Amino acid sequence: MQTLVVVGTQWGDEGKGKITDFLAQRSDLVVRYQGGNNAGHTIVLDGVKYALHTIPSGILSENITNVLANGMVINPKGLLDELKKLEGRTYQIKISDRAHIIMPYHMAFDAIRESKLKDKIGTTKKGIGPAYTDKAERSGIRMGELINKALFKEKLTEILEHKNSLAKLYGEPLFDFDEIYQTYSEYAKQLSPFVCNTSKLINEAIEQKKKVLFEGAQGTLLCLDHGTYPFVTSSSPTAASVPLNTGVAPWLIHGAIGVTKAYTTRVGEGPLPTELFDEKAHYIREKGHEYGTTTGRARRVGWLDLVLIKHAKRSGGLSGLAVTLLDVLSGLDELKVCVAYKLNGETIDEVPGLIDDFKACEPVYQTLKGWQEDIQ
Ligand code: IMP
Repeated sequence: MQTLVVVGTQWGDEGKGKITDFLAQRSDLVVRYQGGNNAGHTIVLDGVKYALHTIPSGILSENITNVLANGMVINPKGLLDELKKLEGRTYQIKISDRAHIIMPYHMAFDAIRESKLKDKIGTTKKGIGPAYTDKAERSGIRMGELINKALFKEKLTEILEHKNSLAKLYGEPLFDFDEIYQTYSEYAKQLSPFVCNTSKLINEAIEQKKKVLFEGAQGTLLCLDHGTYPFVTSSSPTAASVPLNTGVAPWLIHGAIGVTKAYTTRVGEGPLPTELFDEKAHYIREKGHEYGTTTGRARRVGWLDLVLIKHAKRSGGLSGLAVTLLDVLSGLDELKVCVAYKLNGETIDEVPGLIDDFKACEPVYQTLKGWQEDIQ
């Protein structure tokens, strides 16, 4: 396939990095299309570990063009810190002039809002939700504006007035214009050589028959539209969101590989119907190193849930499935796989739209015999 999407089918952390790295080596462009530095995966090359949160997975190959597309929200400091670790290497990176910037007030309000919620979402506190909120509210700052000094000054002046009135309301420290302006102008100077119209870039590459890999972050169940709202992230990780988030026609996307763990994990709050609380959860968590790359939080663990995978296939589109981490299950006498839910006495095979219904779903399991040998 000339154009291919890699997408998580669960709540993120499905091992997409491994599949993406493999496919990236066969691609000319690798494009991140949504989310920001709430994502994370580690690549090891020649014994050196690179923790990537914002940068696409092709960055360690000098021939691959890495694109941060318009659907992303970008923390400039986070991005520059990641780039600093690549000093001495040759890489190609392009950033959309339409991508939105995560500002200090986004991170502050992410934390403030979480602290006030009764039913917490468990966000990564990276400012993702507030940055996308501002995008939808039309008060966001885009990369093209950040790198235009006069425009940035004008926008920041107006926006900070509003953000500071909110900070006062919350009894929080005010945001200092000079400090933010100076710091972000410095980031802008360093990032501006990479900024361009990435939709044009990707479309031209497709016309030239180059191979493009679209790298999804998070997973389908964290999708703002098709996930377990409100316990979701603020973007859409699905393959269906790629055209909008990159400026590429839907009919130019040839396929989507869904990545699925052989079990289920979730970080943060929200229902997880097949969740395990016994020693099996501990076994899987330790064996699978199920701790967050970005926040270090222990991931919640459950059996494989096929209702979720079918939902991911239906709502976002999948042309293939890559199953990861099967070897983690070696040594268990038996395995359970959820094939349907029981809700109010009825058997259903879909993810309910209402979160309270989803919370009430009880898994219907098929039990399979396990294996003892190491299949790593
Ligand atoms: P946010 O994306 O920081 O707003 O967090 C919203 C929800 O998505 C929380 O439950 C996070 O734990 C979860 N989340 C965000 N990014 C990732 C990820 O890369 N992997 C797994 N969960 C994530």
